[in-house]
Parts: sequence; structure tokens; C-alpha cells
Amino acid sequence: MANSTSSNRFPDDFLWGAATAAYQIEGAANEDGRGESIWDRFSHTPGKTLNGDTGDIACDHYHHWRDDIEVMRELGLQAYRFSVAWPRILPEGRGRVNEAGLAFYDQLVDGLLEAGITPWVTLYHWDLPQVLQDEGGWTNRATADAFAEYTEAITRRLGDRVKHWITLNEPWCSSFLSYHIGEHAPGHKSFEEALAAVHTLLLAHGQAVPIVRRNSPGAQVGITLNLSQVYPASDSSADQAAAVRYDGYFNRWFLDPLYGRGYPQDMLELYGDRVPAFEAADFDTIAAPTDFLGLNYYTPTFIHDNQDGGVLRVGSTRREGEYTAMDWLVYPEALYDQLLRVPRDYPTGPLYITENGAAYPDEPPADGRVRDPERANYYRQHLAAAQRAIAAGSPLKGYFAWSLMDNFEWAWGYTRRFGIIYVDYATQQRTIKDSGYMYRDVIAANAIDD
Ligand code: FCB
Repeated sequence: MANSTSSNRFPDDFLWGAATAAYQIEGAANEDGRGESIWDRFSHTPGKTLNGDTGDIACDHYHHWRDDIEVMRELGLQAYRFSVAWPRILPEGRGRVNEAGLAFYDQLVDGLLEAGITPWVTLYHWDLPQVLQDEGGWTNRATADAFAEYTEAITRRLGDRVKHWITLNEPWCSSFLSYHIGEHAPGHKSFEEALAAVHTLLLAHGQAVPIVRRNSPGAQVGITLNLSQVYPASDSSADQAAAVRYDGYFNRWFLDPLYGRGYPQDMLELYGDRVPAFEAADFDTIAAPTDFLGLNYYTPTFIHDNQDGGVLRVGSTRREGEYTAMDWLVYPEALYDQLLRVPRDYPTGPLYITENGAAYPDEPPADGRVRDPERANYYRQHLAAAQRAIAAGSPLKGYFAWSLMDNFEWAWGYTRRFGIIYVDYATQQRTIKDSGYMYRDVIAANAIDD
């Protein structure tokens, strides 16, 4: 046990976990009646992912889940955040329920509970059934109703045992990154489509919340956002105004409607007729009260004014500093700032960091060890920032490391390793990295070791 002083200890009821997502780890893409998802289609389309990598096999967690629970136990995890693959449950997106899909998560949940690990289930971590994409995907309002059907089926099955639910993971990614920037499935390039997608996603979230509550009595339900902690690149008034626009685009466009304010007026004016038609009553649905807010934090953004910079007329400035293998700046102060800013501006209730972590180019295990001091250092610094935020009054209640294990990092395929467990994809051998052992010690001591 670490020799902990009050300054490096976390609150007694602080929750420690690790996170994954279905398409990134499960594999078994064509087994037991699973339908095709937009990520199957996208990753099998030449040129969309690095090296043409797909999630067909990934970490083969679908067959190795028992071993994976054993490793979680070894790490002392108190909670495990994973996502359910919609196309395993409703292979056609809506309608017919696939019993084998339900059975898989049923066993997983029982296995976790037996190991004393609390399941935190994300309903949507980006693997939309392809058949729904064929009808417009998230740009089609009817997808929110399909999501309600899916939520009904999975919460009815697991709601007696799963008491922590996250509706959506990072709706910015499933809208702007997927329908405008085109880096994620389905790879479209339309700002208007992205705005329509946001609206359907928010509606899907709002419709799902009461369904979860009905089928999972006493459950806590929330949403996970990847907010961008935005700083003006200089103190010029032009850069400051640019940072406000970028904050409107990345953060307030999601937070304002979730907390009952509708879309922000300044952004409505900026976007003009790009904004899709919506019904006023939608905002009552979207603002369904939640029990917590999940935040995924990796890196901040420094924004300058750029009149040629698209709809937002902004550009991002590269800062000097240490960068991870994702080329993301290591900047824990931004986590601190975000943990204070968000609950100051919105009635979020408890916060959970539902993802935080770093990719570095690990070497394969040698003498049973994976030496990853940079990752361990990233964790230490961000945990220290989280702790400072709690001391300053942030309602942060828990932390999930991203990720439990190396996995399919979307468009980057298997080239970016985020795990605290190393995965040898050829043998499916798992090895706890040094950062994983460090995390185990943090959990055991409920404190950061100095
Ligand atoms: C987040 C995603 C997660 C993973 C990390 C690195 O945006 O939610 O699936 O890819 O980034």
C-alpha cells in the first residue's frame, strides 16, 4: 500500500474503472446472428482505415471475456464500462430481437457481478446497424425510434442487474466526425448532415432515458460527452471570439439542449439555414433529467481566428509540449479546468471521467513486462489534476481508464495502443503493462503514489 497523505488520497467512495467499446474489442463479427454495423462496412471499404484494419477479430473478447474478467480482478477494478453492440441485439436495426446477442451480454454481466465488478453499460458506442444507415442513419429522425426499440430490448434483459447506463458515447464523434469530417463511419462530408445527426442523437438519448428508468428500477443514467476544453490561442479579441465560436460548436451545442436551454442562440445565428428543421417539443425530450454526466478527456484545443476557416472561421494552433502517439498534446491542466467549468455552467450533478488515457508505441512484452513509463506518467498527471479539481469543488465521483486493453482504434486500426493491458493480436495473449500495475496500486491505495 502506498503511504498516502490526505493530499494524494481520493474520496473514500471514489469509483475506479476501465473502459472499452464493443466494436473495438469483441471481434466475432459474423457470429451468433450479429448484423452488419456501419463500422464493418466502413473498415472493409479500401482506404478508410490504416492498413485496412477491421474489427472482425480485434481482441476476440467475445470468446475471451472470462479471461478478461480475471485480469480486471487482478487489477482490482471496481467497475467496467463496456458497450453493447446494437447489431448483435437487433441485427436489422429494429424489429426482430436476436436472443444469442442478449445471451452474450447476460453472461458477461453475471461474470462481472460474480467478480465483484460493477457493470457500466454504454448503449451506443458508434456501431449503428448498417441497415439503418441505408435509410440515412443518424440524419434520419426515425433512427431515434429504432434506438428506443433497441434500448427497450437490452434494458429489459439486463435492467435487473445493470444499474449504470450511458446512452451515447461522444455524440460529437457520431455526428461531426462521421457525417462532416468523414473520418469515421459512414464517412460523409456534409455539415448539414452532421447537424441533423446531432439532433437525432440527442433525441435518441432523451427518448432512451425514461425507457432505461422503467426497465432498470433505481438505475443511474447519463450520457458521455467528449467536450473540448477550448483556449484562445492569444488574448486578442478576435481569437477570444473564435474560441467562443468553437466552444459553441463543440460543447454548448450539446450541453445547452441537454440541460434544457435548446441550441445556443449565437450558434443558431452563425449556422443559419444549415440548421435542420426540428420540433420545439424535441427540446423537452432531449432535456430528460439525468443522474450524472460522463466526460471523456484526452487533450485540449487552442483556437485562433481564421476568416477562411470554414463555417466557424477558426483554426487550431499547435502548442509546444509533449505529444502522444495520437499527436495529442499532454496537458492535464485542461482536465482540471473542464472538471470545474462544466458543473459551474450546467446543472450536471455528479461527474465521471468515463475515458482518459494515452497511446504510446509500446514494445512487445519482454520478461513478462511491458515498460510504458510515458503512459504511467500520463495517468499520474491526469489523476493529480482530477484530484486538484475535486479539492476545488468539482463533483467528480469516479474515473475510467481508456482502455482496459489495446484494441481497434477506429480509423487508426491496430497502430495505436491505448491499453493498460498489452494485447498480442496474433496469439490473443494479454500482458498487464507497467501502467496497469501502477493503476492497480492507485486503486488499492485510493491514492496516487508519490
Ligand atoms: C474516444 C473514443 C474511444 C477511443 C478513444 C481513444 O474518442 O470514445 O472509443 O477511441 O477516443
